[in-house]
Amino acid sequence: MNVGVLASGDGSNLQAILDKLHGRGEVDVVAVGSDKADARALRRAAEAGVPARVFAVEDFDGRPARDAAIAGWLEERGVELVVLAGYMQLLDPAFLARFPQRVVNVHPALLPAFPGIGSVEQAIAYGVKVFGVTVHFVDEGVDTGPIILQRAIDLPAATEAKAVRAALRPIEHELLCEAVRLIARDAVRIDPSNPRRVLIAS
Ligand code: GRF
Repeated sequence: MNVGVLASGDGSNLQAILDKLHGRGEVDVVAVGSDKADARALRRAAEAGVPARVFAVEDFDGRPARDAAIAGWLEERGVELVVLAGYMQLLDPAFLARFPQRVVNVHPALLPAFPGIGSVEQAIAYGVKVFGVTVHFVDEGVDTGPIILQRAIDLPAATEAKAVRAALRPIEHELLCEAVRLIARDAVRIDPSNPRRVLIAS
């Protein structure tokens, strides 16, 4: 399965996909796009020999035009699944229509709790004792798409966002790779009787 990754920052989730899945028979990362020219994710792609491109919104006539250009490039590269790995932009509905049920995101909280940015800080402020990671399909809302995989971690005394993020990061890497692998194996389906529910074949 050809995978395209969109990332805005460090790209540690991209790196996990490159290290654990890329070029091993089931998954090839064929494109990495970013809205930020200085994203470390772009350097990680280059180091892995994966074509990478910057799509800065100021270079286009607005976000829909930018997203159409990204979608066109991903289609040209033969992308079958789009992975948002720390991509800090909302995607235009027309982009999502070009990749139906084929865009996934990793989020550092147990959705539907704490969607959007600053989710770890929100969770600490709320006083939760269980944190976690969600991998979900992307729909037009903010972190509202059907949940593919979730994993929780007990951190009853957490007060520092940095420490929580460090505890969540390896879970993100594992869960995101697992979801991509399952999709590559065609083991992920939306439940026909409840479109919120994602069925995983065992
Ligand atoms: C991760 O915490 C991910 O859950 C969130 O953005 C962050 C990206 O980290 N969506 P990285 O760039 O993959 O290191």
